[in-house]
Amino acid sequence: MQGKTAIITGGGSGFGRETALKLAQKEANICVVDLSKEHGEETVNLCKETGVDAIFVEADVSKVEDVKRYVSETMKHFGKIDMFFNNAGISGSGVRTLECSEEEFEKIIDVNLKGAFYGLKYVVNEMLKTGGGSIVNTASLGGVVGMPTLGPYSATKHGIIGLTKTIAGEYGRENIRINAIAPGTNETPMVKAFPADAIKAMADAVPMGRLGQPHEVGNVVAFLLSDEASYIHGAVISIDGGSAAL
Ligand SMILES: NC(=O)c1ccc[n+]([C@@H]2O[C@H](COP(=O)([O-])OP(=O)(O)OC[C@H]3O[C@@H](n4cnc5c(N)ncnc54)[C@H](O)[C@@H]3O)[C@@H](O)[C@H]2O)c1
Repeated sequence: MQGKTAIITGGGSGFGRETALKLAQKEANICVVDLSKEHGEETVNLCKETGVDAIFVEADVSKVEDVKRYVSETMKHFGKIDMFFNNAGISGSGVRTLECSEEEFEKIIDVNLKGAFYGLKYVVNEMLKTGGGSIVNTASLGGVVGMPTLGPYSATKHGIIGLTKTIAGEYGRENIRINAIAPGTNETPMVKAFPADAIKAMADAVPMGRLGQPHEVGNVVAFLLSDEASYIHGAVISIDGGSAAL
């Protein structure tokens, strides 16, 4: 990946950070996009330790002006965008779907679905000018099955899969290669903070009997973004220890 450039939204934490580090190890230059300046800059510094060039853009993916800015700052600094990990997302407060407030529903749609759409719209526009690129959108296990108490989240993740498949059909001939990942529950800081019995119950429900680790997602995303995955297009890749198989 030497000389290639990747944009990673939500790059300050979790899957975004793991993917940034994996791509940096493969010598790609990185633009980290995140709401959190502190965490985003931490990821940039970790990437730079591998010897690559990396920049941070503080941005809210749900605001179209911020999206245009992270795209233009990447173009200004690196001159092209070869890879895009469209990943920033939020979950929800965990109430039954119809008890969710209108405000919360709109917020989750704004960040997860509109944010992903804006990113695709403005990143693909630049990729087309330089011969194409590869994209991974972060959906979820909740994008392929329903997820009780996370209805708005599940709706946005189903929506991301719809966008992925449709754009694959529309732009494949122009060398835009696009896929989605559908991770199951991972041991992120948020999940680690749950009571031990709740974590055990979640792990017991997984066919492999354990939760995922964020680097197991980063490994797959780095592969999908690479030329090694050159004929994988419009796919939804489960990374869930077998949960979607049940
Ligand atoms: N953790 C899981 O178990 C899991 C499972 C399936 C899917 N996902 C999805 O994976 C993606 C990443 O999740 P994670 O677990 O790494 O989460 P995380 O909370 O560790 O990281 C998400 C990052 O996104 C940033 N972010 C949030 N809203 C933003 C916004 N509006 N604009 C810019 N940045 C924003 C946060 O600051 C944070 O750094 C999300 O789309 C999430 O829905 C997570």
